[in-house]
Amino acid sequence: MVDFSLSDDLLEIQARAREFAQEEILPIAVEYDRKAEVPPGIAEKAKAAGMLNVTIPVEYGGMGYGAFQSAIIAEELGAACAGISITILVNGLALTPILIAGTEEQKEKFLRPVAEGAKLAAFCLTEREAGSDAGSLKTTALPDGDDFVINGRKCFITSGGLAEVMTVFALTDPERGPRGVSAIIVPADTPGIRVTKVEDKMGQRSSNTVELTFENVRVPQSNLLGKPGRGFPIAMQTLDFGRSGVAALSVGVARAALDYATAYAKERQQFGAPIITNQGISFMLADMAMKVEAARLLTWQAAWMADQGLKATGKSAMAKCFASDTAMEVTVDAVQVLGGYGYMKEYPVEKLMRDAKLLQIYEGTNQIQRLVIARQLGK
Ligand code: CAA
Repeated sequence: MVDFSLSDDLLEIQARAREFAQEEILPIAVEYDRKAEVPPGIAEKAKAAGMLNVTIPVEYGGMGYGAFQSAIIAEELGAACAGISITILVNGLALTPILIAGTEEQKEKFLRPVAEGAKLAAFCLTEREAGSDAGSLKTTALPDGDDFVINGRKCFITSGGLAEVMTVFALTDPERGPRGVSAIIVPADTPGIRVTKVEDKMGQRSSNTVELTFENVRVPQSNLLGKPGRGFPIAMQTLDFGRSGVAALSVGVARAALDYATAYAKERQQFGAPIITNQGISFMLADMAMKVEAARLLTWQAAWMADQGLKATGKSAMAKCFASDTAMEVTVDAVQVLGGYGYMKEYPVEKLMRDAKLLQIYEGTNQIQRLVIARQLGK
């Protein structure tokens, strides 16, 4: 029997996430967007509310949530501020390689301190010349005695300047190209890691996005995740999981824009009546509402599949692509419903529009999502 209703447990998680988002994130969203800073203490507050590192199993000090519970949380956080939320949520992406391929010892050593403290983590895959073509990365992690020595540069790394632990994808066997890529856990205080650029972004400005340079960074070979040369599939599996989270974040952004535009259209009087009584506006809002509902259902399906242990590559790409395209379309339309006011920083929809744009780009551009979907067709 198909059931689209949320269980009592999920409703409780949703209510807690909504309360946290509306009380701790929304009131500071505009201020930190302007400052282009991560709000100090936000990780601690998220941890106290049970919203940080939620996918770490209970036995390592986490909440033990799956993709569906995470998606419920991500929508609520996204409805408050995508920028602040991505700092909280990207931990899930950064730690997934450890969940997928880590040994008991690695999980104990690296997951527990992150889960028990309010620590941030970073997923270090992208490079200047290896964005959509992630397999062409050039950072090396060459074996030297019992260590790997890492050299190279990673760019657009979310939380890269704040993280205490990083999962780094680098060539341990450069001759083998993508099949020489390994996933390695790197504590951020390892000598030789420097932030060499802090990005000044259009939207999601309250997240930390940096370039990291690794210069003779020495970590023990025991930090290798899984087998040498199998890092690329670990990155891909991680993204399969993470993309339903970005989809949920996108649903939250779109929902916030729809709710604001609807309330405004009911209030705003022109020609002697609320503007929602004009078909031009009401049909626009109806289209926005349809897209939000469809995006949420696709997101829930992708997250549910991941929790069932089903291969969710195609569905999570569909959810990420459809939901972030929805967020973009709905936020642009929300600005239009508000007219001149929508374009002004005094109203929240211009920020939602700027924030939405990045959702179509990170965790794989929507062109890459379409490529992933197309490759899955007929399988
Ligand atoms: N699960 C498991 N393994 C997978 C996989 C999946 N979903 N997809 C591919 N693989 C495996 C393949 O089986 C293959 O394995 P073998 O070596 O055993 O043959 C290997 O990975 C290579 O696969 P492909 O030949 O399909 O790889 P490709 O070079 O054609 O690239 C791609 C595939 C989908 C385009 C990939 O490069 C990609 O996803 N690019 C986008 C990168 C991206 O999403 N970056 C986001 C960075 S993180 C971020 O943005 C977060 C943030 O800051 C908020």
